[in-house]
Amino acid sequence: MALDLLGLNPKPKAPPKRRLTVPTDFLKYAPKYGWVQDKKTSLWGRFHPNKHQLKLYHEIRRQQELELPVLIIILKARRLGITTLVQQYFLHQGQVRPGIGTLLVVQDQKTQGAVHDDMLRRTFRHLPEALQADTRESNRGRLVLPNESTFVVQVATGADLTKSNTRRERAPSQRGGRGPGYQQMHGSEVAFWVDAEATMLAVSQTVQPVPGTIMILESTANGRAGYFFDMWQATVAGENAYVPMFFTWCEDDGCRMTPPVDFQRSAEDDDLAGRYSLDDEQLYWRRWMTANKCNRDSEKFRQEYPLTADEAFLTTGNCWFDTNNLQAYLDRSPDPLFVGDLSLEHNKVRLSEHSYGPLRIYKHPVPGKQYAIGADVGEGTTTGAFSCAQVVDRDTLEQCAVWHGRLHPDLFGHMLCLLGLHYNMALLAPERNGPGIATLPKIIADGYPYNRLYKYKRLDRETGEDNLVPGWQTTPHGTRRILCSNGRAAIRDMQVALYDRTTLSEMQKFVDPGDGNPRGAPGAFDDSVMAYMIAITVAKERLLDYDE
Ligand SMILES: Nc1ncnc2c1ncn2[C@@H]1O[C@H](COP(=O)(O)OP(=O)(O)OP(=O)(O)O)[C@@H](O)[C@H]1O
Ligand SMILES: [Mg+2]
Repeated sequence: MALDLLGLNPKPKAPPKRRLTVPTDFLKYAPKYGWVQDKKTSLWGRFHPNKHQLKLYHEIRRQQELELPVLIIILKARRLGITTLVQQYFLHQGQVRPGIGTLLVVQDQKTQGAVHDDMLRRTFRHLPEALQADTRESNRGRLVLPNESTFVVQVATGADLTKSNTRRERAPSQRGGRGPGYQQMHGSEVAFWVDAEATMLAVSQTVQPVPGTIMILESTANGRAGYFFDMWQATVAGENAYVPMFFTWCEDDGCRMTPPVDFQRSAEDDDLAGRYSLDDEQLYWRRWMTANKCNRDSEKFRQEYPLTADEAFLTTGNCWFDTNNLQAYLDRSPDPLFVGDLSLEHNKVRLSEHSYGPLRIYKHPVPGKQYAIGADVGEGTTTGAFSCAQVVDRDTLEQCAVWHGRLHPDLFGHMLCLLGLHYNMALLAPERNGPGIATLPKIIADGYPYNRLYKYKRLDRETGEDNLVPGWQTTPHGTRRILCSNGRAAIRDMQVALYDRTTLSEMQKFVDPGDGNPRGAPGAFDDSVMAYMIAITVAKERLLDYDE
C-alpha cells in the first residue's frame, strides 16, 4: 500500500457511531437482551418469562398505567422465578430510563454476591458493547450504566449496620444512613432479613411514593411472625396501598414429575387432589420433593411450597404449640358475645359495650360456677407489652373471657378485682413478679377476698417450710416451664374450648428458640398466651386437689 506522506488522500471516514437502544417494551426486550440460567437445563440463555413472571409483569404495568407508584408484596413458593422477573425488569428500566437509581436489598452476603455477579454483571456482559456497564465506576454491590442509571445491591443486616464502615454495601437502616433516593426497590426474601422493620423504615424513606417509582417486596414464608408476616396480613386486610400477590407451585409446569408405574395415592394425596385439582405428576413431585429436598418433613414442604397463603404461614418450624390444632381452633373461633369494658357503679360491676373495648366475653358467668383468672402484667406504657387477664371455667377449663389492654399495673389490679367479682369471685392469679409487683398490693387494698387469691408455695430457707404467698410467681426455669408444658398439652389434646383469636394468633407466634425458654417470636407479644397458661394451670391445680 502506498504511503500518503503528504496527506493528499483523505482518510476513509469512520462509520458513524450508531446509538444503540433497547426496546422500551419489556416483553420485546426480555427474549432479545435478558439473560438467565434456565431452571431445568442450568444453561444460560435469553429470558422467556414464564406464567408467574408474566402475571407479575402485568400487575406492574397495570399499576403504572393507572399512574400509581407501584407497590407489590409477594408471597411465593420457591423457585418460581419471581426474583428473576423483578431483577430483569429493573435492569430493563435502568436501560430505558437514564439516570434512575435501583436498590436491591437481599438477606445475606452470599446472595448479594450472586445477585451482583450473576444478575447484574452476567446480563451486562451479554449486552452489545455500547450498552455495557461502566466497570470503572462499578464495584461489588454497585454498578453504573453508560446512561448513569445505577444499581446498588445491599444486605439487610438490620442492627449490625451501626457497627459497619462499609455502609455502601449494606441496606440503609434506621441508624445506618440513608441513600440518595431510588426509583426502584426490590426487597428479596424479606421474611429472612435481620431486623426487617428497621431496614424497611429507612429504605422506604428513600423511594418516594410517586408515579414512576416501584417497590416490590417478595419472600417465601418464614412463620407467622415478623415484619413480612405482619405486612402481608395488613396488605390482605387492605390496610395499606400494596397489592398482595400469592404464587403457588401447582400452577408451575416445572413442578411435575412422571410417577413410577406402581405409584399409588395416599389418603392425603386423594384429599389434596380433590381440593386443589392436583394430578399424579404433581402429587408425585410433591412426594419426591418432601423426601429429597425437605428432609421428609411435610411441614417444611408446606412452608416452602404452599398451596395457599394461609398454609405458607401455618408452619413456623419451631412453634411451641401444635400449629394444625391452632388453625383448627381459629377456623371455628366465634365472635365474642360481648366486647367492651367493665367499671364499678354503686358497688356493682357494670359492663359497657363498645367495639374496641379491652374485654371480650365468650361465656357469661353462670351462677354457682367457679372460675379462675390468670393475669400477665405489662408496664402500661403506650408502646410496651399489654396486660392480659384470661378467665377460664375451673371445671372444664373453657375460655370464658379475655381482658387485653394497656393499664398501669395498679389500675390493672383494680380491673382484675372487677373481673373476679363479675365471675363469681373467681380464683385470682396475677403474676407477682415484674410489673405485677404493683398489681397485687392494689388487689389486696381494694379488698378482694384473700382466700380467693391464688397462693404460690415458697420455700422458707430458714424454717425449711413452705410459705404461701399470694399471686403467681413466674420463674424462668421453674414455673414458666410448667406453664408452657401445660399450655402445649392443652392445645395438643384439644380437650379445652379456646375461642379468642388474639390468644390463638399469639400462640402461633410463640416459638421455641431451642434454649428451653419458649416465648413470643421477635416482635410478637405473648401476654395473652402467658395469662392463658397461668389460668389453666391454677385452675388445674384445684382439680388435682391442691391447696389454695
Ligand atoms: N423464565 C425462566 N425460564 C427458565 N428458568 C428461569 C426462568 N426464570 C427464572 N429461571 C431460573 O429459575 C431459578 C429460580 O429463579 P428465581 O431465583 O428467580 O426464583 P425465586 O422465585 O426467586 O426462587 P427462590 O425461592 O429460590 O428465591 C433460577 O435458576 C432462574 O435462573
Ligand atoms: Mg428469590
